[in-house]
This record gives sequence, C-alpha cells and structure tokens, in this order.
Amino acid sequence: MLRLLTLTFSLMAALIVSANQPDSVFLFSFNAHPSQGLSFAYSADGHTWKTIADGASFVSSDYGTWGAEKKMHTPILHRTDTGLWELLFRVNDHVNQYARCVSPDLIHWKPQDYPYMKDAATVKAFFGAMEKSALHTALVQGELRRGCINRITYAEAEAMENFKQAAARRAQLNSESLADDAHWSGTPDATAAGATPMHAVNQPQGRFAYLHNKGVNARVTILPEARKDITDKLIGIFFEDINYSAAGGIYAELLQNRDFEYLESDRGREPNWTPTNSWTLLGDGATFSIATDEPLNPNQLHYAVLNIQRPGAALVNDGFDGIVLRKGDKYDITLFARLLAGKAGKFRIQLRQADRVIGETTLAAPGKTWKQVKGVIIAKEDAKDATLAIVPTAAGEVALDFISLFPQKTFKNRKNGLRPDLAQILADLHPRFMRFPGGCVAHGDGLGNMYHWKETIGPLWERRPLRNIWGYHQTRGLGYFEFFQMCEDLGCEPLPVVPAAVPCQNSSTGGGGQQGGIPLGPEFEQYKQDILDLIEWANGDPKTSKWAKMRADAGHPEPFNLKYIGIGNEDLISEVFTERYLPLIQAVKERHPEITVCGTTGPFFEGADYEQGWRLAKDNKIDMVDEHYYVSPGWYLHNQDFYDQYDRSASKVYLGEYASHGPGRKSTIETALTCAMHICGLERNGDIVHMSSYAPLLAKHGHTQWNPDLIYFDNEHVYPTVDYYVQRMCGQSQGNQYLASTFIAEGQNPEVNNRLAVSTVHDTTSGKTYIKLVNLLPVPVITSLALGSLMPVSGKATRVTLSGAWDDRQARPTQPEPVDFSAPMTLPAYSFTVLEI
Ligand code: AHR
Repeated sequence: MLRLLTLTFSLMAALIVSANQPDSVFLFSFNAHPSQGLSFAYSADGHTWKTIADGASFVSSDYGTWGAEKKMHTPILHRTDTGLWELLFRVNDHVNQYARCVSPDLIHWKPQDYPYMKDAATVKAFFGAMEKSALHTALVQGELRRGCINRITYAEAEAMENFKQAAARRAQLNSESLADDAHWSGTPDATAAGATPMHAVNQPQGRFAYLHNKGVNARVTILPEARKDITDKLIGIFFEDINYSAAGGIYAELLQNRDFEYLESDRGREPNWTPTNSWTLLGDGATFSIATDEPLNPNQLHYAVLNIQRPGAALVNDGFDGIVLRKGDKYDITLFARLLAGKAGKFRIQLRQADRVIGETTLAAPGKTWKQVKGVIIAKEDAKDATLAIVPTAAGEVALDFISLFPQKTFKNRKNGLRPDLAQILADLHPRFMRFPGGCVAHGDGLGNMYHWKETIGPLWERRPLRNIWGYHQTRGLGYFEFFQMCEDLGCEPLPVVPAAVPCQNSSTGGGGQQGGIPLGPEFEQYKQDILDLIEWANGDPKTSKWAKMRADAGHPEPFNLKYIGIGNEDLISEVFTERYLPLIQAVKERHPEITVCGTTGPFFEGADYEQGWRLAKDNKIDMVDEHYYVSPGWYLHNQDFYDQYDRSASKVYLGEYASHGPGRKSTIETALTCAMHICGLERNGDIVHMSSYAPLLAKHGHTQWNPDLIYFDNEHVYPTVDYYVQRMCGQSQGNQYLASTFIAEGQNPEVNNRLAVSTVHDTTSGKTYIKLVNLLPVPVITSLALGSLMPVSGKATRVTLSGAWDDRQARPTQPEPVDFSAPMTLPAYSFTVLEI
C-alpha cells in the first residue's frame, strides 16, 4: 500500500512539473566536429533550440586507434520500426566501413558495429544520399549546425537531461581528493591526553576542518559467528610486457636485440630501431651488416655478418642501458655462428667496462653450417654499464645470430630465468595467481600482432619475435613455458589470457570490421584448436599427448595443473567479437569443464561494453568475467559498495586491472589507501569477487608507457611504490572466510564514516584472522575494538601500519609490533593497518 501511495505521489509530482510542457518536442541531433560525439537540442516549435545537457555528447565514435582516428562524420539518426534508435555514421574516408549503433532511449548505446561495404566510394555515396534527405540545418546556441530532426516525448528529453545531471553529480563526487581535506601542520600526537588528534600550529581550512582539535572516536565491531566462505585467491598479479617489464626487466637476459630482429615497424619513428640496434662495430679492418638468406630459423630471419679483413675489430653490445655485472658471478655466453668465407678463427668474448676487460673467455671457431657455441665468463669486478665484445681472431666472413649473455644467478636458479630481485619482490606479495601475457599485449594491434602462445615455446631461437604494442620488441624469451614456471616458482596459479580471436578495437590496422577478427572457417577452427591445445600442453600426459610431450621435453614432465583460462581482453563487444568469443568459450567448456573460463566486460566499470559483456556472461553462464577500471581516488571513496549489490547467482568477478589514478598519475598514500579501502570491499564480496590484480605491475625507469605502476626498477635497484605495500599487506593477509565487521565513528557523520573501512578475514589453513582497517581521515581515529570471541590472548596479535601525508610517495609500513587490546587503538591520520590474530 505504502509503495502504491509513493508511486502515485511521484507520478503526480512528475505531472505537476510537466503541466506546462508539450507532450512531445522536436529533437535535433548533431555533432559540432567529427572528433566530437553526438549532441542533442530540442524545440517545441522546431525553430528555437535548447541544448540537452549543455550539448554534452551521448555517444561518440569507437572506431580506429586512440586519439585522432576516432571520428564521426555525417551522423544520421532515426527511429526504427521496432522503436529502437539507430545511428549511422561514416568513420573516415579511407576504409570501407561505416558505423552503426542502436539505443532504446538515446542514453544507453549498444557497442558499435562496423558493417562492411565493397569500397570507400560506396560508403561515401550511401551517406551522400542520406545527407540530402535526412540532414537539416538549425541554429543552436548561435551556431548553424547540420543534423537530423526527429520527434520525442518531452519526458524522453527530460530523462536525457536528468541522466547527464546525475552523471555530473557522480563525477563531482568522484573528483573528491584528499588534497582538498584540511591539513594540519605540527607534530601528530594522538596519544596525548584527551586524544587530541594533532598539535595544530595553523588554523586549518578545507574538508574536515571541523575535526580540528576534536578528534574522532570510533568503534570496530566484529561478529565472528557471522561468517561466509570467500575466495582464497583474491590477491594476485597481472604480468604484461609493458614498460620493459620482460626483456630489459624481469627476464634476466643481459644483451639487447640478441636476435638482430628489431625492426623499424616495432617503433615507428625511431631511426636506429633496426636489426643493428644496440650493436656497434669497434676497431678497424672490418664491416658489420645484416643478412637474411639461409637464416638460423625462418622465424628469426635477420643475422649479423662480420667481415674481418684483419683481426682486432669487435662487435659490441651495450645491453639495456648498459650491463650490470657482479664481481665473482658467472655468466653464460652462447651464440650461433657460421663461416661464410675465409679462415675459421676462434672468438674472444670479453666483458668490458669502458676500455678495460673485466672478464673473458674463448669460443670455438665456426664451421660451414649454423652451430651454437657456449662458454662461461666470470666477472672480475662489479660493473654498472659494461658491454659485451665479440672479437673474431681470424680474417674472414662470419655470420652470427642469437647471441645471449645470461647470468647464472637467476630466481630459483632457473636457466633462461628471472632477475632475482624483481622476482623476489613479486614473491613477497604472496600472489595467489598470475594473469599473463596481457592486457593489450594479448590481443595485439591488428590480426598480425595477436599473441599466439604456440609461437612462444620451444628453443629460444625458433620463437617468433613480435612487435610490442607498447612500442618496442618482444623477444618472447619469456614465453609460455617460462610464464608457467614463474607461476610455480611464485607459488601461484597460472591464468593465461588468450585473445578472443579479435585484436584490440583500437588497432591501427584492421579492415573487414574494426576489430578485424580471425576469419570464420578453417582459420578460426585452427585458432579454437590452439586454445584446446594449450590446455593439453599444460595439463596433458606426455605419454599420450604431443603437446604435453613438448612440455615434458622442455623440462616439466609433471602437469602444470592449469585451472583458469581468460578469453579476451577488454574488447569491444561487437558482432565480430561475439561470434568468435562465444564459440571459443563453448569449446573450452565442452572439452574441459574442469577449467574456469574468464570472459571480458570492456575497459570501464560502466558503459556499453560493461553492460553487454555482463549480458553475454549471464546469458551464457560464463564462469567468471574480467573487469577493468582505472579511476580516481574519489571513485573508490564513493563506490565502496560497488559489489555489494551484485547478483550472487551470476558469473564470478575477476577484477583483472585496476588502480587509483590521482593527479599526475603517481602512487601516493592517497592512491594506495583508496585501493586498500577497495580491497576491504572486495573481501566483503569475496563470495563473488574471486580474484583481483593491480595494474600495471612493473616499469623500468626511463622506459615507461604507463603510470603509475606497482613497482619501478632500473638495472640495479627495485623501487616499490606505496601501492605496492598495500598490495603486499593485503597479499600477506588473505583468508577464505569473511567475518561480518563494521567501523563506525561516534556521531555517525556519514562524511566521516565514508572515510573508514574495515574487513576481517580468517584463513582456515593457518588458523589466522586478519583485520584490515583503513582511516582516510586527516586525523587519527581512536578506535575501540569489539572482537567478541576473536579477542586474542595478550601477545598473540601483531599490527602493521602504513601511513603518511596524503601525497607521500615514500611511505613504508611499520615492522610488525604486538598489539595491546586493553586500550583503544589509535589509527593514524591517513593510514592502513593490518592486525594479525
Ligand atoms: O595495464 C595497462 C593496459 O590497460 C592493459 O594492457 C590493457 O588491458 C588496459 O587498457
């Protein structure tokens, strides 16, 4: 009854508001410039136009590479017989596609499709004809615009206006930043009598100024009896070769361009990005060129040709910004050589620091066919920017390829392994899984750039190198075998992601549909088989499976025990995508019901791909979907309940990529603590949010394409960010049961409470319970803890706290210290605390 009355009142309110409005109005749709989206204006008389939402765009082009390519020419809008709105527009003048998208209400637009026409002239003619019949001219805010006129109800126009207003309100909330909080100078002294939060020496202004000299008292209540089972895989990592994460990064190879396969097309504009990159010929009486006939392997066509007129010259590689060597360490040198003409002489191989030789060995002379020669060099000194020199000892012409210098000291002493310090810092996160190889690297820039796992296994010199979508080169020395081994060494589950048979929707190459897509038919069937073969390769029995035998031959007879596979990476959910994605998922589920398949829901936490991705997941009962969002700290503050209302019976969630992006895209206490707050929400929803991984993971100083990243490094050092420490604190305190918990400030001020978060999890294996407490207020919070039966015997609990100024980039967690539960606990201003009981 009450609901009926409420409904009646709200209907009356709507009618009263609209009493003087027309039932319907003219709607004018236009875009002011091809780089802008579709805007609207409405008019009661068809002459005087008022913009809707100040001319904001309701839908824009999704076709082509990011930036300048995404254009909307000649947008034609009409209502179809089914009542849906259909928008058609030209994407450009040089592809034979036009764009089509539909909407039920002009607010929510389905992902765009790009129907193909036989040539660009036909597209132009088609739009030319429509332009004549459908386009009108109107004066909108003093500007003459060309566009379409339709008729809608006044309520529809109002709904559009309201939608944008609500979006603006949300954007306003999401722009909240700790920078606008009142900040106190002076020494924090939360333990002082009266629990004064800070000794203030200035008069604070800004958000929470009213807390000055007042302090906040709060209570954490935990109900240990009210618990639910949650995932035990919540915190993992996402490894992608971005920012030189692989070659020059965690992959321990010390030589750059060891295969002479750097190509101009990897990079675009850099003139020296060629097969000779990183190599220099020093000394006289020799020439150095690149050849491709009779290569070592057709997958790696280029090799070096050294023509030595008189011995003395050296071919030198300067590594990735120099080579770092440690005194006394051993380095494996391997190369392939072939004598082309003249005498065969041995090779002197030298580690050089400036002009000094600080390590040396000799390798056997080449024969008439390609042969690998090997040696070991011991570094006699530490060096930061050494080079490797290959010095032929006889006159003649030799071909050289695949020249590798690899430290014997790698993580877990693996051959072809990982840089120990970088791998260790990942291990310290206690990740429960690792997603790889991307990201954008997985689906690639155009069909030819898609990541095919089979190209990355087997002998290193037979693997197919690939342009990296981030503007450099993938050697694929760190390939699928190494990724699986890395997971094993980090103690986590592998989660490989294969493309959904479509490349990135922002690809610079394509055609036949923006995403291109592997042609349906035999090629697609083979691709489907490749995915099934991956599972066979990872889990099969070498005695019966050819793929499993390859794994065994590579050194891993035991199965890798693959449990998860991702299909697709934040793809546009178009027809091209759907008609490939669903059959791939179906094939895996039919053949391997034991594998959890993870689908995709686009690059944002809302919008067309998110909605359609979820629709596909629900309709097709996909096990899990991968969500991505890189959003502001304010978004996390105002979306703590993001997963609280998710359908418990639908697909599980893998939050595969997320980060908090503050001003300047740096990792600070603000970004890290807002992520900590989000993780509390993920744990609370750990019954449906199965996994999560911060992104990106690694970045080499001087070679970053994306900021912030979790861990920065150079050749010698590793620089974890504040966000790293939050991930580590959370990774080291995972559980498999969630205990009902609340964290409420005295006075129940919603603005204050919104800055507090708690999550309690219990790990049934270790018997430990972890309480995570986030205080995002600029003042300490004096917290009493009502733990019920959790209350530990004194001395049995420890505490680790991370805190700092909102923009602090150097904050580090404290060492674990015992907790005294006999008095309220002080949580410092801007802090994240983990209690271990
Ligand atoms: O994490 C960096 C990139 O962000 C990933 O490659 C892609 O999936 C996302 O757009």
